[in-house]
Amino acid sequence: MSAKHFKVAALAGDGIGPEVMLQAIKVLRGAEKKFDFKLEITEAPVGWAGIDFAKKALPDITLAVCKRSDAILFGSVGLPDRDPTIPKEERPERAALLRIRKEFGLFANLRPVRLSKALAHACPLAKERQGEGIDILVVRELTGGMYFGQPKTTEDLGAGQRRAIDTMVYTTAEIERIAHVAFKAAQLRRKKVTSIDKANVLENGVLWREVVTRVGQQYADVALEHMFVDNGAMQLMLRPTQFDVMLCENMFGDILSDEAAALGGSLGMLPSASLGATSGECTFGFYEPAGGTAPDIAGKNLANPIAQILSSALMLRHSFGLNEAAAAIESAVGHVIDTGYRTGDIFSASEPNARKVGTREMGEAIAAAI
Ligand code: IPM
Ligand code: MG
Repeated sequence: MSAKHFKVAALAGDGIGPEVMLQAIKVLRGAEKKFDFKLEITEAPVGWAGIDFAKKALPDITLAVCKRSDAILFGSVGLPDRDPTIPKEERPERAALLRIRKEFGLFANLRPVRLSKALAHACPLAKERQGEGIDILVVRELTGGMYFGQPKTTEDLGAGQRRAIDTMVYTTAEIERIAHVAFKAAQLRRKKVTSIDKANVLENGVLWREVVTRVGQQYADVALEHMFVDNGAMQLMLRPTQFDVMLCENMFGDILSDEAAALGGSLGMLPSASLGATSGECTFGFYEPAGGTAPDIAGKNLANPIAQILSSALMLRHSFGLNEAAAAIESAVGHVIDTGYRTGDIFSASEPNARKVGTREMGEAIAAAI
């Protein structure tokens, strides 16, 4: 039988993007040798790299490459210190990242946070709060809410006064489809959904709670609880082991997923998958580390490539259905961590077996462990 064949757009972007992408591709090539699939990987510029290349954060050629691909493997974009004169609408965060999310209808963002025993020291919480390990899936709505609601503008009021407006908008249908994603994910996990909202203050929160409750009735095997977002932020610190799936609207999910990521030891460990609707066998998806460009350590072989590598595993699973290959990458990461390999962000001198390595050594060790 001939190998399954998939097209991947690899958009490394800015900061640490290129160096961690290099390692993820190395790992994917390693997985290709063991499993029955072939990837046709096309690299294209995005972010400031896109602006330097074609004066656009998302060059036309890059968008074209994405459109003819089965999935996008993304690095990170945005360098806060570069050229403050470029209008905010043209900066990479909006013109590339948010644009791609909208363009491809990527409404479901999955951010799995896991704290392994081996990294207990890297978690900011005391050991007794870590219980038997932390394992949370943040399901974040990604194309609605305040990020995209209209009007979104800054008005001049005269006399040196301005007024900024962002609008939070959700429809029933938007809430329903993300709720289904959360309940389905919970069915494959520990069967609990904690839905986050601010129903005590926001109209959006009231609707969110009603719709999620109604969708939840279709999943009798999944326990549903509701939590206000402020309490959710606190509970993550106090008793993170109570959470299985956290279902959040766009902005709350942005905030809580960073908070949850810290519990996993480092933002450098957090992968993410952004999915649209499924058509036929293939779900088009966008896979990126959640950590950002980290310009302070870029180009120094210091960045942790694991978030990028785990993102590529999510791509194999969610877009290509290559579950075994995805699991092999994830266990290779686990093995290398257990063996003591540590980039600076997860290194502690108090660990007897820890071995401080760079981006490249970490990537190579994981590729070799598959
Ligand atoms: C994320 C990031 C983005 C977001 C930024 C870079 C626009 O923080 O993916 O979490 O807010 O969604
Ligand atoms: Mg964020």
